[in-house]
Amino acid sequence: SIYRSPRRSLQTLSRPPQVPDFAFAFEWASRPLCIDGVLVRSSDALPHAHKTLSYLQSQRIPFILLTNGGGKHESERVEELSKKLEVPLDTSMFVQSHTPFADMDEYKDKAVLVMGGDQDNCRRVAEKYGFKAVVTPGDILTAHPEIWPFSNQFLPIYAPFSRPLPHSVHPTDPSKSLQIHAIFVYNDPRDWGLDITILKDLLLSHSGIYGTISPKNNDPKLPNHGYQQDGQPPVFFSNPDLVWAAKYHLPRLGQGGFREAFEGVWAALTGGPRAGVEFQKTVIGKPFRPTYEFAEKRLVAHRKDLVGGEDVGALRKVYMVGDNPESDIRGANSYKSPMGTDWASILVRTGVHVEGQRPAWKPTKEVGDVRDAVKWAVEDSK
Ligand code: G3P
Ligand code: MG
Repeated sequence: SIYRSPRRSLQTLSRPPQVPDFAFAFEWASRPLCIDGVLVRSSDALPHAHKTLSYLQSQRIPFILLTNGGGKHESERVEELSKKLEVPLDTSMFVQSHTPFADMDEYKDKAVLVMGGDQDNCRRVAEKYGFKAVVTPGDILTAHPEIWPFSNQFLPIYAPFSRPLPHSVHPTDPSKSLQIHAIFVYNDPRDWGLDITILKDLLLSHSGIYGTISPKNNDPKLPNHGYQQDGQPPVFFSNPDLVWAAKYHLPRLGQGGFREAFEGVWAALTGGPRAGVEFQKTVIGKPFRPTYEFAEKRLVAHRKDLVGGEDVGALRKVYMVGDNPESDIRGANSYKSPMGTDWASILVRTGVHVEGQRPAWKPTKEVGDVRDAVKWAVEDSK
């Protein structure tokens, strides 16, 4: 059995045993309504998940958990998932869609807009990451319902968690108006009309000052026709998934759907690509490089932690175990590690991908479930 230690000598060592030179990144479906998964499906642990992770821990084989979901702080995820899987976990082992935002120190002292999910939870996550001035679309709507009259019926929903704005958003004096320095989409927006309206207002503004209009907009002499050329806040999307697998039998729109909707509106307002206007934004999340690079850094740090900070040598190989060819497998196959770590992809059949389908992105190996994945990888690593 893969659960039995192949290294009997471990018990006899007085120093902590070396950490193997390979590690795992497991997809983990964070959403209770999500029916895909490697470790968890529809909120429940999948068979073999507990034993597989316990085995890895007994062997000091490092692993992290990677999801395009989000909306709660990593500490809450530790609590939820360590209970479900019955294994001890640590916040540093969790990479959610928005976890890389925690490293963006340059915006921590500035007013930023946080969008998506349960807005109050996302605000609290950002604050735990160290962001000191977080504004939500609900704050803006509550202070100025005239900004988006069609969400007025939702005012009672926003009321309990909206907070007063640092300044008025309707300036007679722009120097006293709210200035947003960056926009972070933490999770799938719920109130698309409001969020699209606020995004458009800020991206057409002068320097992110709410209620202003940039004089540079629509200037054909400037690059990008003057759009996003006047100090407007950068926009960061955390999850590219156009659709996701929920309980309903057809795919449901995700954060990528919201982004596409915004891009359509932006193209209609500015002329879009046909007029030579590109919407400038940063998109992270699987399958994109920044998320894999961040995950790799976390793994490297986690390996060291396992032996109290000792030097553990280079990380030779990472096995990404996922259920979704388009995100998990594509991401691992495309990623080129700056440290020279080799990434292999293992596709399981307990989620989006099912037996008999031809995956859009061919994994290094296809197996039944998470136990088979680890079994294969441990052999492969020898
Ligand atoms: O919003 C969550 C959905 O996009 C799925 O993400 O990485 O948990 O499969 P993941
Ligand atoms: Mg998934």
